[in-house]
Amino acid sequence: MLNMMKIQKDMPLLEHYIYLNTAAASAMPQPVVDVMASYLQKQASIGPYFPSFRQEIYAQVERIREKSALFIGAKKEEIAFVPNGSMAINYIAGGLQWEQGDEVIVLDTEMLSNYVPWLALQQQGVQLKVLKTNAEYLVDLQELEQLITPHTRLIAFAHMSNAAGALQPAKEICQLAQQHHVLTLINANQTVGLTPIHVAELGCDFLVACGRKWLRGPEGSGILYVRQALISALTPIMIGWGSTQWDYQNDEYSFLETAKRFEPGCPIIPSILGLGAAIDYANAIGIHSIYERVQQLTNYLVEQLSTIPGIVLYGPQNSAHRLSITPFNIEGISPDELTNELAERGVIIEAGTFMANTIMERNQISQMARFSPHYFNTFEEIDTAVSFMKEIRAKAQDRY
Ligand SMILES: Cc1ncc(COP(=O)(O)O)c(C=O)c1O
Repeated sequence: MLNMMKIQKDMPLLEHYIYLNTAAASAMPQPVVDVMASYLQKQASIGPYFPSFRQEIYAQVERIREKSALFIGAKKEEIAFVPNGSMAINYIAGGLQWEQGDEVIVLDTEMLSNYVPWLALQQQGVQLKVLKTNAEYLVDLQELEQLITPHTRLIAFAHMSNAAGALQPAKEICQLAQQHHVLTLINANQTVGLTPIHVAELGCDFLVACGRKWLRGPEGSGILYVRQALISALTPIMIGWGSTQWDYQNDEYSFLETAKRFEPGCPIIPSILGLGAAIDYANAIGIHSIYERVQQLTNYLVEQLSTIPGIVLYGPQNSAHRLSITPFNIEGISPDELTNELAERGVIIEAGTFMANTIMERNQISQMARFSPHYFNTFEEIDTAVSFMKEIRAKAQDRY
């Protein structure tokens, strides 16, 4: 059960704004800000390396690793902290030992960060194959199976596209991949903190997620999950203290046997602490409650948006296939203009290509506007946003 009073109290911006852009990044709840601020304040008072303080902080980082693992059904050793989803994808693209002729499958709904790193592997003789999703932007498992060949090494797919909002059947995709001995990477940037996720049940090999979106953690936080059996097969693309052992006498080095091998150098302590507090916050609400509330808000949003004359909604037409992310255009008004007009009225949404160019092409548009409500939003806020949009549209019509 959501305690909306507390949730809203923990989010000071709601006094002035309606925030409907979690797909870009959410605002952090106050307890997350407090944990980070208190760390920064203490390190300003006694210095970051005051011995007992530093030891306690490192112990805290390891507790957060355990907590992050539990949150997605993984083991502590399988989790690395990363600054964002893009870097985590690069650790996998750059860390697997590719062979000439290997094939990687991605979806036609990917944004740049889960497309170009695979495209770049062409230089190593790897072929990128793009699966066309169906009319609902979903993976058709038969089509996927047809694309798999004995050379297919990996299927890397967004659990939910940032510019379509279709939630993919991740478990079924991973099962199919397993049957063909193909590895799977779930790009869960748009789902961790929004839907229940259990990597062991999903059966994926890798999963990446940033902390700043649905988890409501800080910018510069994220996690990389690597299935334990694959850790030693994934060579880190970066080397540094904390992840690497150096045998100075013999001029040799080796990487740690855990996913910590993907954490070279000084950890970004404030972000990791913030991520831990964000996971606590999500756990206190309950991931199932979050998921159900966002489903309800999504259905209502789609219903209400559909009452705006001249609106075109992109992504799945059946709301049951969509979660939160609802891209659209309104005839006669550019997405940028609409976004700016709404911002002037205190409603924050976003417009752009979202670096998901294939989705723009599919809809023959150059840009779109996008709503992405989270559990802290209300049905009343959606009503307000929609009534502003009607007003803005009417004003735009008067120009003609
Ligand atoms: C679906 C998807 N994949 C990948 C990314 C890239 O993640 P990051 O910005 O954390 O590097 C994003 C971020 O917007 C995204 O929405």
